[in-house]
Amino acid sequence: MSKCYFSGTMKAVRLLRVCSMVLAVLVQSANSSSCLAPLAPQLRKDCHPDPGASEASCLSRNCCWSPWKTPGIPWCFEKVDSCSVVPEPQRIDCHPEPGADEAACVNRGCHWCASENTTVPFCFYNSEEEATCSTKFPIRNRVDCHPQPGASPEVCEAKGCVWCPTTIANVPWCFYPANGPHGYTLKDAPQKTAQGWRVTLIKRGTISLFGNDISPIVMDVEFHTKDRLRFKIYDPNNKRFEVPLNIESSSDVSFEPNYDVEFVNDTVLQFRVIRKKTRTILWETTLGGLIFSNQYLQLMTSVPSTSIYGFGEHEHPSFKHDMNYVRYGMFSRDQSPVALSNLYGVHPFYMCIEKDFNAHGVLLLNSNAQDVTLSPSPSLTFRTIGGILDFYMFLGPTPENVIQQYTEAIGRPFMPPYWSLGFQLSRWGYNSIDVLEKTVERLRQYDIPHDVQYGDIDYMERQLDFTYDKANFAGLPEYIKKLKNDGMHYVIILDPFLTKDEPQGTYRPYELGQELGVWVNNSDGITPAVGKAWPPGDSVYPDYTNPKTAEWWTQMCMEFKNVLDYDGIWIDMNEPSNFQNGQHPGCEKNHLNYPPYVPDITGGLLAEKTLCPDSKTYLGYHYDTHSLFGWSQAIPTFYASQNATGKRAFVLSRSTFVGSGKYTGHWLGDNFSRWRDMHMSIIGMLEFNLFGIPYIGADICGFNEETTYELCLRWMQLGAFYPFSRNHNAIGNKEQDPGVFGEEFAAISRSALRIRYSLLPYLYTLFYHSHVSGNTVVRGLMHEFTSDPQTHGIDRAFLWGPALMITPVLEEGARSVYVYFPEASWFDFYTGEQVPPSWLKKSVEIPAPLDVIPLFIRGGYILPIQFPARTTVLSQLNPFSLIIALDEHGEASGSLFWDDGDSIDSVERGEYSYVEYKYSNRTLKATVIKNGYNGITPLAYSSIQILGLTSRPNVIFMNGKIIPSNRMKYNSNGKITLWISAPLLQELTISFEY
Ligand code: NOJ
Repeated sequence: MSKCYFSGTMKAVRLLRVCSMVLAVLVQSANSSSCLAPLAPQLRKDCHPDPGASEASCLSRNCCWSPWKTPGIPWCFEKVDSCSVVPEPQRIDCHPEPGADEAACVNRGCHWCASENTTVPFCFYNSEEEATCSTKFPIRNRVDCHPQPGASPEVCEAKGCVWCPTTIANVPWCFYPANGPHGYTLKDAPQKTAQGWRVTLIKRGTISLFGNDISPIVMDVEFHTKDRLRFKIYDPNNKRFEVPLNIESSSDVSFEPNYDVEFVNDTVLQFRVIRKKTRTILWETTLGGLIFSNQYLQLMTSVPSTSIYGFGEHEHPSFKHDMNYVRYGMFSRDQSPVALSNLYGVHPFYMCIEKDFNAHGVLLLNSNAQDVTLSPSPSLTFRTIGGILDFYMFLGPTPENVIQQYTEAIGRPFMPPYWSLGFQLSRWGYNSIDVLEKTVERLRQYDIPHDVQYGDIDYMERQLDFTYDKANFAGLPEYIKKLKNDGMHYVIILDPFLTKDEPQGTYRPYELGQELGVWVNNSDGITPAVGKAWPPGDSVYPDYTNPKTAEWWTQMCMEFKNVLDYDGIWIDMNEPSNFQNGQHPGCEKNHLNYPPYVPDITGGLLAEKTLCPDSKTYLGYHYDTHSLFGWSQAIPTFYASQNATGKRAFVLSRSTFVGSGKYTGHWLGDNFSRWRDMHMSIIGMLEFNLFGIPYIGADICGFNEETTYELCLRWMQLGAFYPFSRNHNAIGNKEQDPGVFGEEFAAISRSALRIRYSLLPYLYTLFYHSHVSGNTVVRGLMHEFTSDPQTHGIDRAFLWGPALMITPVLEEGARSVYVYFPEASWFDFYTGEQVPPSWLKKSVEIPAPLDVIPLFIRGGYILPIQFPARTTVLSQLNPFSLIIALDEHGEASGSLFWDDGDSIDSVERGEYSYVEYKYSNRTLKATVIKNGYNGITPLAYSSIQILGLTSRPNVIFMNGKIIPSNRMKYNSNGKITLWISAPLLQELTISFEY
């Protein structure tokens, strides 16, 4: 493949031209590495039985390395995949008719391995037994009858289920027979209700998987809006735990829904949701496979395509899910991002792109420990161990519509303060104010934009919340004031555990909390649960679901504001994390702490690294509320931040749940300083935009392990395009701030951040749209080019809103990237040069020397930008410009939201200005739609750039007056720059005459 090199100093001016000669189409090779196939864990042969296995030692043995969540499964195992699972001559043909391909094969439940020997089947079973069994019981239809470990033919058959092993990972070996004595059937005919339908279901047969089956149960189908449907399965006779998120349905029931629902009372009852317009079946569940017992609820549904996105929080290897029987657990956990593990937050939400490119989304509103299995038929199996089955479906039909409708239900994202869009610096382990000051100073010396400085737990005295270390950080309050005078902001960390072991009368936060009774309690509901975390001694945990706790927390935050003049609050460890399994003296053996089924979560123990599930919170058992801890903390912290600062709240939370985006942003946790983690961060960022938490980023340069010069530099470039852009590092690692690597590094970081700062008016406007309408801020190309299937799998490039494509370098040593250009006009951000038509719908190799992150602007859009500065406080006053990128019709549009950047509820109070831009018929019009912010008056445009002109205009008029020729510059590549002076607040008309 030809390479496209670019040498010399930055100036990406000629990048596209240099490359146009070497356009290359990426051929996606069918990579058949024998470690890629997901191997059923019970088939793994340990390749490293001796202690000390690591990824490196495993790979050096030529084995596969893939950590597994439940103990006892080898992480390092001998290579076995579809190609090596059986010798070629023993393959049994699974697709004798012509036309086999990998997808059809996998869908049939067979192995696929192309061979040089064309006489052997490529799609095959590996044994007669598998062939007989799989023909009789197609794996695509299997609903697991023994989801916990330890299945055997005897146990399986005793449950009235069928036993039929397979070597394909995660395919149930023990499953329900088609018409077995399981599931639920209709009691009476469905009844019409004010909002939809009610059906009462009764259990068939007496066999129970985990005991305590509930019957009858009720399914309510509620038509909430024309695009939102809820279906809820619950126990009509006993109230079970329900997530306290108030999702209101429309009071107007006169709408015409875009969906139909159907009940098919075949041998077993089926429930379907159909998109009216296309008749696509979005959801089809066989209630025969439904299980609703006290501690095990299971439901399987088929879905209309394998383009499934979402579910979290995990580190997913790709944005578009692998549907080959992959199972993800969801239960909030203090866990560095590693493949397959359940991480800090819980988001049982997915989006599906249907075959005809309509999109819909589905939420399972349930906070209990749960897992979901994605299968290629395609289908999803939900399993949760408590609460109810409460599903919400959002009909889209575009991906953006889906997220708008989802956030309309769960709460729109908060409006971030403008300063929080600036670059932020943090580390755990400055350890002294001297080191902190020196670090800040070197960024200043290099003139690197720097808006926010963090204090991690080392600013505290012995890691005690609401204290600061007066020895090592002597003078911190004064230093914070100094930073603030310099236009910077300071964010403090707070942990959700307080030591109970300080001498009496010395630690007020604990003593007041104790007096008010604000802690999570043991199962007796009276004595506080005592765990172990950072502070010396043992710790208690605030129960934020209790309104008294919210008051106490707010008071503590307000009082501490008088000590350290912080601007925002970072809430960490709120899964909640405990350094032991359960509180003292350990968890009692009971049905909550040791439920009959533990979802597929890391460690396989609910109390691992947290409190015992039978602990009591105000809202109920920790068993039910565990994953709500971070969400419940974010709400009072949001108001505490607002009350303490008198300004717009800034909260950053590690643990999140459905609806958290209304109060908090998130970072992707304790990642590693590795190249792959850069790629993973893009996937995480795209997913959190689906979850309604668009204020998202990862620790730039990596948190765990030592970074390297090149990795950190490329990460500074990528991180300049995270909505939340923060470089953060773990204790003990070498420094990795952008000032520490010398002149060249500093210059490249400065240049990437200055691009970010210049684009902040555009980014801020995207956040405004997110706040009022629920749009994503960062989005996959799939959102904008849904009908182009090539975009569905793209997760190495991403968009800011609809208009800016970011294509970072994600590999060591690479000096170019492959960029896929969907059908549109695209312009090189640096040169303004238009991408040639021959590049469209292709992956093209684009040069990316060390000092360049390739960026492209999409035609049809107008981006408001502003001259950058070292802080946003300064840049907010700088002159504005517009980049007008024309589409193929010579048109473009855009908007600008502007306010003072940090007032509380300025949108809701109407204290903002809003300008709309439209370019058509060779005329730009800027119309002031709303003029509610006085501070905008002195601001002005100083230049306008138009990209994509077909020829040089003769005369240009601004508000009727000719712009002198020395105030314009036309480049032969169709770009024109005009230097003007015009106030932001006045109507502006610029017209071009030829
Ligand atoms: C864990 C957090 O994820 C990390 O960012 C932080 O530095 C440490 N806790 C110490 O507070």
